[in-house]
Amino acid sequence: MDYGRELSFIFNNPTRIVFGEKTVSETGVELDGLGVSRALLVTDRGVAEAGLAGQVQKALGRRCAGIFEGCLQDSGLQVVNEGAEYAREVGAEALVSVGGGSAIDTAKGIAVLLKEGGRLQDYAGYQLLSRPQTPHIAIPTTAGTGSEVTYAAVIKDWEKNIKILFCDNHIIPNVAILDPLLTKGLPPQLTASTGMDALTHAVEAVYSTEREPLADALALHAIRQITRYLPRCVEQGDDLVARGQQQLAATMAGIAFSNTQVALVHAMAHSVGALYGVPHGLANSILLPHVIMHNAASCPDRCLLIAQAMSLAVREIGEEEVGSVLASTIWELTDRMGMPQRLREVSVPREGLAAAAAACLSDGAIIYNPKPINTAEEALEIFHKAW
Ligand SMILES: [Fe+2]
Repeated sequence: MDYGRELSFIFNNPTRIVFGEKTVSETGVELDGLGVSRALLVTDRGVAEAGLAGQVQKALGRRCAGIFEGCLQDSGLQVVNEGAEYAREVGAEALVSVGGGSAIDTAKGIAVLLKEGGRLQDYAGYQLLSRPQTPHIAIPTTAGTGSEVTYAAVIKDWEKNIKILFCDNHIIPNVAILDPLLTKGLPPQLTASTGMDALTHAVEAVYSTEREPLADALALHAIRQITRYLPRCVEQGDDLVARGQQQLAATMAGIAFSNTQVALVHAMAHSVGALYGVPHGLANSILLPHVIMHNAASCPDRCLLIAQAMSLAVREIGEEEVGSVLASTIWELTDRMGMPQRLREVSVPREGLAAAAAACLSDGAIIYNPKPINTAEEALEIFHKAW
C-alpha cells in the first residue's frame, strides 16, 4: 500500500443509514428523530406512479406537508426553484426525497434555497455553505448515484446547457433509508447503468489523488459487491439479496467518493451528459475502461487492488497489463448486462467530441485524476477511443 507518513485526511460521513426490507415504514420515526414535524416529499412522476412515493407518504402520515412531483431526469434550476416555492407555500421544515439521484439532488438544492434564500447558482462550487441546511431524508429508488450520502449535487442550467456542480458537506442528507424493496421494480437497463455509476465512483475513489485508507475500505468492498451482485440484479430483478447488496455497495461507493472525489471519467461523463444528453451512468460505463487504460501506468498498484476486488487472479497479472485486464473485465460485465459500449451508440456525434473534450477540462473532477490531464487533446484522444 502506497501510504507514507505524509498521509493526512479528514473522513466525513454524517448520514445515518437505515437498511433493510420495509424500512421505508420508518420514515416518520426518522423524521421525528430530526426534531421536525412537517416534510415535503420530493419525487418524480414515474416514482409516484409506481406507488413508491405513496409508501413514504403513508409512513409520514400527518407529517407529510405536500408532494412535489416535478423532478426530471436532469433536474434544472427551474425545477429546484419551483420545489422551493412549493415547500414554502406548504410550510415544510424538512425534505424527504424519493427517487433516483436527480430527485435527491433536487431536494439538496431545495434544502439550500429554503435555508439561504437567493439564487441556487450562487452556491455552486466547493464548500461555500457555512451552516447546516434544511433537514433531509433521502430514500433512493436506484442503486448507483450514492447521492443519499454524498456532498455533491448536479443541477442543470438548461439556458446555458451546462451541468452545475455543488460540492458541500452541508448538503449531505441527514438520513438515508435503503429499502431493497424500492429498487425491485427498477428496469434492467436502468439497474445496469445506475449500477455502473456506482462502480465508477468506487474505482475513481480508489485511485483518486485524494485516496485514503477509510475510503479504500468502502470503495474496494463496493467493487467486490458490484462485480458479484449487479449482474444478478439485472438478470433477476426480484432477487432481493442482490438488490440489497447492490444498494449498500452504491452507498459505500458514495461515502468513499464524497471523501476522495471522483476523477476523469466523471469529468468526461458530465460533458457528454450536458452536451448530448447521455445518461450519467451510461456515459460512465462507456468511458470507464478507456480511462482506466489511460491511467493505469500512473497507478498500477491501485489498479491491482481494484483487480483483486473484482476477484481476478492478481498474481498472474503484471503491472503493465493490469489496465487492459481491468478494461476487458468491465467490457465483459457490461456486455453480459446488454449495455452499449461506444459513445456512437448513445447519440454522441463524432464531430461533437472536440467540444466535449474542451468542456471536460473545466470540470472540477479532472484535477483528482491520478494522471494529470492538461490539454483538451489528451481528453479528445480518449473520447475518440470510446466513440
Ligand atoms: Fe456519478
